[in-house]
Amino acid sequence: MTRYRTLLGVVLLLSAIPVAAKEAAVDPASGLKIAPGWEKVRGHCTACHSSKLIIQNHHSRERWESLIRWMQETQGLWDLGADEAVVLDYLAAQYGTPAAPPGGMMRRAPLMPQ
Ligand code: HEC
Repeated sequence: MTRYRTLLGVVLLLSAIPVAAKEAAVDPASGLKIAPGWEKVRGHCTACHSSKLIIQNHHSRERWESLIRWMQETQGLWDLGADEAVVLDYLAAQYGTPAAPPGGMMRRAPLMPQ
């Protein structure tokens, strides 16, 4: 009997995992996660290139900011004004880097863009 109860526990646990791992809703057109600020990101950040460039990246807030500066200095990206903080909050929260694992193993910083 105990064995069956254990088995039932395992089955219940496994069936709960997909619910726990459920991701934020995604905008079908851009693929951007729907979270506070996403429309500003869609508005500013998909004018020149696909949102795929954003979605495939995971950067710290500082790194996102330096990418924005790089695009402003070399690619004609405009001043984002008051929207910049909203955009950076969104990027860092939705496409950020995971916190360092307990063992302290960190990946090297990503390579600089060309
Ligand atoms: C004025 C045009 C323009 C706008 C607007 C723009 N970008 Fe870019 N971005 C570029 C260009 C050009 C590249 C280089 C594309 C390539 O290498 O093919 C680029 C590259 C990127 C990359 C890849 C960088 C790498 O590591 O190689 C990311 C990420 C990115 N942009 C994010 C953003 C975000 C976030 C925004 C909104 C704040 C944004 N872009 C808005 C022009 C723009």
